[in-house]
Formats: sequence, structure tokens, C-alpha cells
Amino acid sequence: MEKLLQEISRRMAQADLKSKADCEEFKREILGKNGLLQSAMDEFRALPGAEKPKWGSELNRLKSQATEMHQQALDQLATVVTLPWDDITLPSIPLPVGSLHPLTQVENELTALFNRIGFRVATGPEIEDDWHNFTALNFPENHPARDMQDTFFMQGQADRLLRTHTSGVQIRTMLNQKPPIRVIAPGRVYRCDNDATHSPVFHQIEGLVIDTDVSFAHMKEVLYYFVDQFFGKDFEVRFRPSFFPFTEPSAEMDIGRKKPDGEIAWMEILGCGLVDPAVLENCNIDPEVYSGYAFGIGIDRLAMLKYQIPDIRLLYENDVRFLRQF
Ligand code: DAH
Repeated sequence: MEKLLQEISRRMAQADLKSKADCEEFKREILGKNGLLQSAMDEFRALPGAEKPKWGSELNRLKSQATEMHQQALDQLATVVTLPWDDITLPSIPLPVGSLHPLTQVENELTALFNRIGFRVATGPEIEDDWHNFTALNFPENHPARDMQDTFFMQGQADRLLRTHTSGVQIRTMLNQKPPIRVIAPGRVYRCDNDATHSPVFHQIEGLVIDTDVSFAHMKEVLYYFVDQFFGKDFEVRFRPSFFPFTEPSAEMDIGRKKPDGEIAWMEILGCGLVDPAVLENCNIDPEVYSGYAFGIGIDRLAMLKYQIPDIRLLYENDVRFLRQF
């Protein structure tokens, strides 16, 4: 018995299963009806009862190892593709190359165009606390944005929420840097909304400038530059008075395109304003010395306008038939 098992081990160690024929021979010699394992089984059966346990487990181990070797070799042979290497002048096999998501493309384009006029990128966490997202930005205690219906709060952690805008990065930046400050903060934001023009996750890019003698006119010039660079010259721009707790005065900016009948179709693309002195004070910046402006642009909306995407949800489904177009 011992000799036979050694012989099986030796042959298995030497086996080199590189072809179908090798596999067949291996099967015939070792695994088959007249193979070595079968002979070992016959011998095993004839052993006196007391010796059986000693050899039984070794026999079983060899059997399953041989079966596995054989199967693995067959599987591997099945996946080998024959390549036409004999003609190296043939064109190569095309590899599928992905592309950047349209939102990433728009975000990169915006970052680049603001970089060109001296804005650096600032970042902040997507899981924010109430102070950075609301209080420091001058939101009153009972503001509707603080309602569960508008904001995703963390269960069991009263002070944790998914940031509803990138404006909290203004606070983090003002606390960490001394003026002059000139930053943009692109990133993901979250709100309890879901329809063709609202997604529970979307993207904004925040701008913040703090310096001495900063005025509304400076801000307008930067925003005109942004529209020119991003949309081209064929767009009209208008500012409408608005309200945000963290800016005073505040405005919203629309861009408009002339329709064939001559009328202009307006679309809101950002909020902006001069940083409220209360916000500067919350960040230990003296409003008597410094002033600033801020703006928040919706990236998804820009992507929808630029590529004429009718439903925001298309941007989040990751359907390659949609994504391939960009
Ligand atoms: N945080 C505002 C929002 O999400 C957008 C915004 C408005 C940002 C005015 C600003 C700003 O920086 O000055 O609706």
C-alpha cells in the first residue's frame, strides 16, 4: 500500500498538464477505471480492519488533489485564447477606454477657469456639523433649511448632517487662513429632494474672496468672466436681488439665451453676494477692515445646460449608453 501511494504522489508531482492530451493521459493513469487510484482502492479494501484508518485518509487526500489538479488544468486550457502573434504588423486588439463623467468634466473645467484668475481649491467634509453648515453662516435657529425635510441628519447624532451646500467651506477657510483669501470649493452636497431637476446628491462650486475694499463690482466682473469662459459670448446675464442669510446684499444670477422668436429664456445658475459682517465676525475677521464676496454655482445645472440633459437623474444612473456620449 505504501509503495503504491508513494508512486501516485510521485507521478502527480511530475505531471505537467499543458494540453488536452496531457490531461487525458493523467486521467487514464491516475484517476481512471484502471488507474493507480483504483488499484489503491482495491488494495485498501483488502487491508485488515485495523490498518484501514492509517491509509484511508492519505488515499482520500491524494484522490481529491488529483481530481482538482485535473479540473484546474482543464479550466485553464479553456480560457487560453489563441492570438495571431505570428503577424506583429496586425492592428492591436482595441481596449475599451472609459471617459470622465460629465459632472467631473464640468467641475474640472470650472476649477481650471477659476485657477487662471488666482482662485485656489479649498475642501471640507461632506459630513458636517450644524455650526459650520448653518450657525456660523448666520442661519437663524428656526430656518426651514434646518428642517428634517430639507436636510439629511445622522440618526442618533444630533449634530451631524450631510452638508446641504458648499458654503460651510467658507467658514473652514476663513478660520484657517488669514485674508487675503481667494478660493473655490467644489464638491458634493445633499438635500432631501428627488425629481427631474433635483437629486438627493448634487454638486456645487463655492467661491469666496476676502480682502480690503472688495465690492459688488469686483464680484460681477469675476462672474461675467466665468459665463464668458464657460458658455461663450452668446448668453445674456442678469442679476436679481435675493436673500441668503450669509450675504448682504444678495443676488441670484440668471443666464439667458435668445429664442428664435426674439424672447430671452432665463435660467438661474448661481447665488452670490457680499459676505455678511456677522459671518466675518464668526470667523474672527474684522468687518471694519475686511470685506468680501461669495458665490455658489450648481454644477449639475451647468452640465445639464451645456449638454442639454433634460433630467438630472440621468447623471446618477451610470448607464454607459448615456455616459458614452461625453
Ligand atoms: N449656498 C447657497 C445654496 O446652496 C448658494 C449660495 C448663495 C452660495 C449665495 C453663496 C452665496 O456663496 O453667496 O443655495
